[in-house]
Amino acid sequence: PKLALFASGNGSNFQAIVDAVKKGQLDAEIPLLICDQKKAYVLERAAKANIEAHTFTLKEYGNKQAFEEAIVSLCQRHHIDYIILAGYMRIIGKTLLDAYQGRIINIHPSLLPSFPGLHAIEQAFDKGVKITGITVHYVDEGVDSGPIIAQAAVDIREDDTIESLTERMHETEHELYPKTIARILERKYVQKGDK
Ligand code: GRF
Repeated sequence: PKLALFASGNGSNFQAIVDAVKKGQLDAEIPLLICDQKKAYVLERAAKANIEAHTFTLKEYGNKQAFEEAIVSLCQRHHIDYIILAGYMRIIGKTLLDAYQGRIINIHPSLLPSFPGLHAIEQAFDKGVKITGITVHYVDEGVDSGPIIAQAAVDIREDDTIESLTERMHETEHELYPKTIARILERKYVQKGDK
């Protein structure tokens, strides 16, 4: 199967997925990185890994539909099977959702449905919860609201700072995301309601 990875920033999850493919832990190809930020560090990671990268900015296209149509057409040209969001900081619109129904996956740094949206790690830390974690889920039209595929818990320790917690959250993501994608590709995850 062919994966298009979507990212906006650092791309450490992008890297974890690319590395898992290289190590033979994830049986997939990654023909494409889609980015929406011209200066994102993930673009350097893609160059190093020899992965074709395209930056689409909403500005160039004027509206979300035209922007997403351009992305869909590139993905279709590359025969992409799944879209993997890895720190892609945009809400997925109808055009992409319709084209890749049930095949768009996201990772979010909280135990959903708690703390959706931006700054989820800080939200949990500030609330004083004792256990937070990572969620991998299918993307629907809402914000971090689609069907949950996998979760991993991360304890918030007495002596944690936002930095130390963030570091453990990322480590957990880098382990959980490639593993979960592998399971999805093996069709080991069945959505509620599936026959
Ligand atoms: C991750 O924490 C992910 O859960 C969230 O955005 C962050 C991306 O980090 N959706 P990176 O760019 O993969 O390093």
